[in-house]
Amino acid sequence: MNQEDTGVSRRKIISYGWIAATVVIVGEMIGGTLAYLWPKVRGEKSAKLLIAGKVDDFQVEKMAIFRKEKVFINRMDDGLLAMSAICTHLRCIVRWNEQKKVFECPCHGAEFNAFGEVLAGPPPRPLDIHPVETVGGKIVVDTSKVIRRKKFDRVQLVRV
Ligand code: FES
Repeated sequence: MNQEDTGVSRRKIISYGWIAATVVIVGEMIGGTLAYLWPKVRGEKSAKLLIAGKVDDFQVEKMAIFRKEKVFINRMDDGLLAMSAICTHLRCIVRWNEQKKVFECPCHGAEFNAFGEVLAGPPPRPLDIHPVETVGGKIVVDTSKVIRRKKFDRVQLVRV
């Protein structure tokens, strides 16, 4: 079979190949440029869940401390509160003083009570809290969400 039989010359095949390669390269350049220029869509911050343990494992009026997650859980008769350990002044990490029953900030001497309310020092508001729910009898805290508050109110307690 020669080129007269097929009607397609070698030169045409090569030129089609060049056209195809050029289309691919130009397409990559345009696609890459658009991908670079297109604003990134930011989704909602993904949840960071702390599965704190079974509800029954939390003693009433005993502060549970989760150092790695920087969370304190205070269980009371009528519910519980999951508080951030990050000081609302300049973000130092507070620690729980079991004898005095207060949170103490090592940076500027602030103190917060067991509900996170400011007792002393410069913080402008109570410790922030995290949403809590019980799933299958376990306490689950979403540490990716922070709730600021002006004061403690018992409606902030999560019934368990
Ligand atoms: S950072 Fe806590 S009192 Fe300043």
